Amino acid sequence: MPLVTTTEMFKKAYEGGYAIGAFNVNNMEIIQGITEAAQELNAPLVLQVSSGARKYANHTYLTKLVEAALQETGLPIALHLDHGDTFELCKSCIDGGFSSVMIDGSHHSFEENIKLTRQVVEYAHDHGCVVEGELGRLAGVEDDVDVSEEDASYTRPEEVEEFVARTGVDSLAIAIGTSHGAFKFKPGQKPELRFDILEEIERRLPGFPIVLHGASSVVPEYVKMINENGGAMPDAIGIPEDMLRKAAAMAVCKINIDSDLRLAMTGTIRKYFADHPDHFDPRQYLKPARENIKLMVAHKMKHVLGCDGKA
Ligand code: G3H
Ligand code: 13P
Ligand code: ZN
Repeated sequence: MPLVTTTEMFKKAYEGGYAIGAFNVNNMEIIQGITEAAQELNAPLVLQVSSGARKYANHTYLTKLVEAALQETGLPIALHLDHGDTFELCKSCIDGGFSSVMIDGSHHSFEENIKLTRQVVEYAHDHGCVVEGELGRLAGVEDDVDVSEEDASYTRPEEVEEFVARTGVDSLAIAIGTSHGAFKFKPGQKPELRFDILEEIERRLPGFPIVLHGASSVVPEYVKMINENGGAMPDAIGIPEDMLRKAAAMAVCKINIDSDLRLAMTGTIRKYFADHPDHFDPRQYLKPARENIKLMVAHKMKHVLGCDGKA
């Protein structure tokens, strides 16, 4: 099966009250762990590549690995650019075979965001590719951009209709209190999301797919594995899974997860070396890391996103 866009998968997810998992990929083991879970659960999937991932692993290597995953699984998979920041980057990914791109103009003014997003949409739609835009600004670290809590801002519901109408985007990422990275809330702070904003956006854009970034739960088991095996992560708090379930049952059709993959991989490798300090064959430690990524992704698909059996 060739790559698909997100159009059909989002339509079904919206109607079915579940969400598609969008997982960040950087190398073969991550892609294999995610896609093996999806295959066992017959789940549709978004594999997403940041500009940092593309610099690290190279566009051709990543697209060929995803091509292999398509061949091995036969699943509906969309290959998506995560946080594209320029028209040129989006164009390069569209020309290079991606089926979906995000243009993240959220750090620009409303008018500049519309102008840039519209430019990407025109090119993408002419080439059979779909586009995710963003309104509102998440806190946290993505690539080399670090948005402080003071600079973060919730999406303003009164702007969404105009943004969608004038840009022609296919989906919209919003800011309701999630953030990038492992440290989403301060120690002692109660995690909270602005479901009232999501509800108002859903009311204003009926049937339109919404995207939630910064949605890792920062699975405590993996943080523990890091800290019990020589790591020193300060208290990390993620998005409670019941909140993600609630968002998935609403207009949220795509939920982005990266930090949980990083923690699963790093926690497993740290534990492996604590148990086997003399081993040096990368296959020995990458195999359990891949297996734990698979287990974590399967848990998310089955118990949080609800996309299992929907391929
Ligand atoms: O939202 C950001 C993702 O976690 C990707 O992170 O830009 O470091 O690859 P990265
Ligand atoms: P996390 O850092 O919560 O995994 O968010 C990932 C993300 O939003 C990728 O775009
Ligand atoms: Zn993101």
